[in-house]
Amino acid sequence: MKGIILAGGIATRLFPLTATTSKQLLPVYDRQMIFYPLNVLIKAGIKEILIIVAPEHSGQFINLLGSIFEGVGIHLEFRVQKIPRGLADAFILGETFIGNESVAMALGDNIFEDDLSAKIKKFEKGGLVFAKKVSDPERFGVVEFDEHDNAISIEEKPKKPKSNFAVTGFYVFDNRVVKIAKSLKPSVRGEIEVTDINKRYMKMGELKVVKIKGAWLDAGTYDSLLEASNVVKNREIYKHFDPMIDEAIAEFNQEIKTIAKKRLS
Ligand code: G1P
Repeated sequence: MKGIILAGGIATRLFPLTATTSKQLLPVYDRQMIFYPLNVLIKAGIKEILIIVAPEHSGQFINLLGSIFEGVGIHLEFRVQKIPRGLADAFILGETFIGNESVAMALGDNIFEDDLSAKIKKFEKGGLVFAKKVSDPERFGVVEFDEHDNAISIEEKPKKPKSNFAVTGFYVFDNRVVKIAKSLKPSVRGEIEVTDINKRYMKMGELKVVKIKGAWLDAGTYDSLLEASNVVKNREIYKHFDPMIDEAIAEFNQEIKTIAKKRLS
């Protein structure tokens, strides 16, 4: 399985913070936001990861991540997305990278307290998404369940949500997703929607929706960014951080310290 992280976009809601850097490079407690989706993918055993970035931040991503996993068998690729065309565009931009495999896509600003890796590893075919009970479902993709907990409808940012379950920003699809993404028409907000991909898999009876219990944050506003740092600081999340990531961050910190020392001397 291949992995994609969507870290493009302009993130105007976080101006002026995002006037100088990418949202996904802002700190969440003691590390850049991008390490959280990277952890979910690496923890699930995914070794090839495509990071989709905006043109003005590509250099910053490469400075941080370009050689960070050298020698540990994780291969990162970067792809510049000139115009944000919607989340589903990742599967079109990533077509060659995905090849014949299935793909897990993480939104770069989604932080999960739960360890999703077991469910991702078990994936065989169709689609797999994770749902979380929220108090403001109208802000998200909303999934409705029947009395047997089968997902029966999905709507993008509905005015009258049919449930309190938001579809979170982590998606696993089989290889058919590339073809499906290419066939989508832009929504009213002018984007090709991952929700429309979910709907197609649901229509084919092949979408699995797993409810998660732990904290879930999309760190896209000042408040949720702050909350993300507090959740990370106070809870269990680091217990299931892949040691490989901690080691890579420590090594990176050491290198930067050495460079800084040289500059000061
Ligand atoms: C996107 C998806 C939405 C999903 C959300 C999760 O929303 O379109 O279905 O619930 O991510 O963070 P957006 O961030 O584009 O508003």
